[in-house]
Amino acid sequence: MNIRTVATKAYTDQKPGTSGLRKKVTIFQQPHYLENFVQAIFDSLVGLQGKTLVVGGDGRYYNRPAIQTILKMAAANGVKRVLVGRAGLLSTPAVSHLIRKQRAFGGIILSASHNPGGPDGDFGIKYNITNGGPAPESVTSAIYQRACKLSLYRIHNAPDIDLDNIGHSGIGDMEIEIVDPVTQYAQLMERLFDFNAIRTLFTSGLFTMRYDAMHAVTGPYAIEILENRLGAAQGTVINGRPLEDFGGGHPDPNLTYAPELVAIMNGARAPDFGAAADGDGDRNMILGRNFFVTPSDSLAILAANATIAPGYATGLAGVARSMPTSAAVDRVAKELGIECFETPTGWKFFGNLLDAGRVTLCGEESFGTGSNHVREKDGLWAVLFWLNILAVRRQSVEQIVQRHWAVYGRNFYTRHDYESVDATAATQLMDRLREDFPDLRGRKFGHRQVLFCDDFSYTDPVDRSVSTGQGVRIGFDNGDRIVFRLSGTGTEGATLRVYIESYEPDAAKHRQETQQALADLISIARDISRLTERTGRDTPTVIT
Ligand code: G1P
Ligand code: ZN
Repeated sequence: MNIRTVATKAYTDQKPGTSGLRKKVTIFQQPHYLENFVQAIFDSLVGLQGKTLVVGGDGRYYNRPAIQTILKMAAANGVKRVLVGRAGLLSTPAVSHLIRKQRAFGGIILSASHNPGGPDGDFGIKYNITNGGPAPESVTSAIYQRACKLSLYRIHNAPDIDLDNIGHSGIGDMEIEIVDPVTQYAQLMERLFDFNAIRTLFTSGLFTMRYDAMHAVTGPYAIEILENRLGAAQGTVINGRPLEDFGGGHPDPNLTYAPELVAIMNGARAPDFGAAADGDGDRNMILGRNFFVTPSDSLAILAANATIAPGYATGLAGVARSMPTSAAVDRVAKELGIECFETPTGWKFFGNLLDAGRVTLCGEESFGTGSNHVREKDGLWAVLFWLNILAVRRQSVEQIVQRHWAVYGRNFYTRHDYESVDATAATQLMDRLREDFPDLRGRKFGHRQVLFCDDFSYTDPVDRSVSTGQGVRIGFDNGDRIVFRLSGTGTEGATLRVYIESYEPDAAKHRQETQQALADLISIARDISRLTERTGRDTPTVIT
C-alpha cells in the first residue's frame, strides 16, 4: 500500500480562532504540526469519503508545501477529488464560490489573511463547509477536540504534484484538477454587476482608479477583471504580483498598512477612486480622492444603493453587521423596512442568516463586506459594487458619502488597536471591566450617562446556538457607544480593540475630523478601562 500511517503526538494549541488556526510559520513547521491539524479536520468531517474538496491559499510562504501535504493526506483519507487553484492560489471568496458552484463537500484555505507572511511571518489554515462559509463553532471545536487527542495521521507516499499547469492529475484513486483561480469568480462578478456601465465609465476618459493588490492574492483577479474585462487603464492595479512575503508589507488594506495607495489618493492629481484588498482577498478599503470611506459607512451605502446593481435589483431581504460595526446600516434597514441583525465578530456568524435567506448584505467594521453570492466577505466584490454605483450615479465618492450622511445622519466611528499587549494584562483589563459593570451603570461622564453595559451574547436566530463573551459594550443615553474586545486572530500576545461610535444627526457637523469628533469618548474609554495603567500603553498601534 502507498498509504502510510504515521504515529504522532497531539499538539494542544490547535484551537481555531476567529478565522481558523493561525500561527507563526515556525510553529507550523514543527514536526507533524500541519499534518496533525489536517488529520483532525478529516477525522471530524462525517461523510467526507468519496467527496470533492477545494484547496487553495493566498500564496504566502508555506502555501505550496502545505498544499502538497494536504493533497497527499486527502488521498489517504478517501477524498475522491480535489480542485486546486493554479500555483496554489485561490482568494478566500473564490474558494467559497468554487465550493458552492462545484457542489464540493468543503474546502481548505491556507491563509493568515491580513497578517504578514514570509519565513518569520504567519500562516493559517481554515476549513469551510458545504455552503462555502467558514466552519461554525460546532465544527471548529470538534476539530480542536480531535487535535488534542490525535495519535496518528494518514498520508500517501506520492511525489509532489505539479501545481502550475491547468489540468488533471491524481494521487492513488483521488483525482486532482488544477483550475484557473480567476475565471469562475470573474464570471460570477459579471452576473452581479453592470460591467457595461463600468466599462463605459473607465473608457470615458473622465475616471481613473488605483487598486492596490498589496502583492497578495487579488492581483491576478484585479488585473483580469478591472484591466482586461472592464477596460481600466493598464497600471490601474498596483503591486499586482502575489509574493510569498507580500513584498515585505503587511497586507491589510487600511490607512496604516496601505501607505502607497493612501499617498496616491491624497496626492496631486489623485485618481477618482482607490481601493485595496488584503492577503486572501476578503477585506477591502474604499477611498475617494483625499477621502476615506469608513467600512461601516461603506456597508450602509451599499445597502442604500443596492438596487443599482443588477444582482440586487429586486432589493434586499435583510442586512447584518457584527456587533462592533457602527449602526449606520441599521438606519438604512429601518428606512427600507427590512430586518437588521447584530452578530458577534467573525464572518461565520452570518452563514446561517444568509443560508436561511434572512439577509442579503452583511459586513464588519474590519473592512469586510459581502453578500449572499458567496459565504465569505469579498474584497473585490465590494470594489465592483462601488464602481457600479459610481458608474450610475456619476458623483464622486465623497459626494456619495456626504449625501448619505445628509439623509441618514453620520455615525462617527473609529477603532483603536493596541497590538502585542501582554496577554495576562489584556485579559485582566477585560475582567476588571466586567467587574466594574455595577459601578458603571448610571454613571455620568459630562453630558453623557451610562445606559447599559454588558458582555455581548448572541443567540443565532436560525439554529438557536448561543455564543457568549463576545465583547464588552458600554452604551450611553445619547446613543454613544464604546466596545472593548480582545482579538481572536493575533499570533503574538494579545490585541485589545477599542471601538468608539457617536451618532451625529446635524449635517453642519458632519465634516469634522473623526478623531476630533470622538475625542471626548476616546478619553472616556481610556479612563473607564484604565488602559495606560493596565497595559503600559498610551497610544494605539493602529487607528482605523
Ligand atoms: C478580525 C476582525 C473581524 C474579522 C476577522 C477575520 O478578528 O476584527 O471582524 O472577521 O479579523 O478577518 P479579531 O482579530 O478582531 O478577532
Ligand atoms: Zn482576509
